[in-house]
Amino acid sequence: MKADKILINLEQVFSPKDIGRPLRGEEMNEADILENAYIAIKDGKILEVGEGKGYENLKDDNTEIVDLTGKVATPGLIDAHTHLVYGGSRENEFAMKLNGMEYLEILEAGGGILSTLKATDAASFDELYDKTRDLLEHMLVHGVTAVEAKSGYGITLETELKELEVLEKLNKDFPTELIRTFMAAHVIHEKYKDNSDEYVNIVIDMMPEVAKRNLAEFCDVFCEKGVFTAEQSERILEAAKEHGFKLRIHSDEIENIGGVDVAAKVGAVSAEHLMVVDEGEIETLAKANVIGNLLPGTTFSLMLDTYAPARKMLDKGMAITLCTDSNPGSCPTANLQFIMQLGCLEMKLTPIEVFNAVTINAAYSVDRAKTMGSFDKGKRANITIFDAHNIDYTLYFFGTNLCKQVYVDGELVVEDRKLVK
Ligand code: NIG
Ligand code: FE
Repeated sequence: MKADKILINLEQVFSPKDIGRPLRGEEMNEADILENAYIAIKDGKILEVGEGKGYENLKDDNTEIVDLTGKVATPGLIDAHTHLVYGGSRENEFAMKLNGMEYLEILEAGGGILSTLKATDAASFDELYDKTRDLLEHMLVHGVTAVEAKSGYGITLETELKELEVLEKLNKDFPTELIRTFMAAHVIHEKYKDNSDEYVNIVIDMMPEVAKRNLAEFCDVFCEKGVFTAEQSERILEAAKEHGFKLRIHSDEIENIGGVDVAAKVGAVSAEHLMVVDEGEIETLAKANVIGNLLPGTTFSLMLDTYAPARKMLDKGMAITLCTDSNPGSCPTANLQFIMQLGCLEMKLTPIEVFNAVTINAAYSVDRAKTMGSFDKGKRANITIFDAHNIDYTLYFFGTNLCKQVYVDGELVVEDRKLVK
């Protein structure tokens, strides 16, 4: 079979191993790193990756050859945890935080997520669509071709549906693959402050409509002091399971209130944050095969020193990913490259572990490993090209967008840090 397109002369190709499940522990430090390599594409899918002139017999007169001398290729990066659809922004809280006010204090005082609820309620569909599209564009030009995105800034079912509909439409209109998560259990609304169980019932009552309209694939809950208790989180996730959602849980972001046990008990695909977990809980997650979606940008942006203990997690055989948590409060960024650099600088992960985290493991975390996350033949030809001679350079040269090109389904969608129109 001849290729439609071949990317040649790549100085390195980072090629993760897809072993049919997320990479765990030591496996995360293994990958094929091809030198002087090529990627052949047929019908928008990967045909072959290899080294040297192995592509010669894959080309004919109709094959497009793209010379990428001096560049690095990886599978399109995947951001497995974001809160992308929201009204307004919260730079007003920035000064408060710099003056020492804590994230949960701001929330208790009626700010934080609660203020974004009002702004999201007030925003029209088109406003939210444009704003989210802008964020996706930032992400794509940084090399990110698939993004998990949560609702959770709606006061009513109507606003929750509006957020999910924005994502549904963008999934059709924009090159990025979007994986939708229903997260009405994001905050206890002021009205239910003294009766949070009633709000739990309201969230559960929203589920049939979201499920019926196929607006979300996952359900997530913020299990945290002053938000949802472990018991409430379990109730919500058990109900979500009944409605056919796959499960996630925000756990141990600021305080440890038992979210890890809930994750293991309900069979969550992933547990998010895990900044303050203890060793026993790491063992629990490893045993239950719950992926740790780690969000070092949040620790950074909240100016804390509680980076999730990624090395310990790998020592105990866990699978991890790295994600932005992109949101208006705890981590306003759209730059996954910076998060990956924090993975090295603050969590002491190796470059191979970092790239496995945002490719093959992230693909498992969003349940897209059959079509993404590695260069196995037949997977979608989603490819990120870096202006770098090797993968180490992309993580060492921090804070700067090194993404040269992005291909989605074999088509060039980003060139020189700009969207190809
Ligand atoms: O993952 N913790 C809950 N949700 C987000 C923050 C959302 C916000 O502050 O608007 C997080 O940190
Ligand atoms: Fe989050």
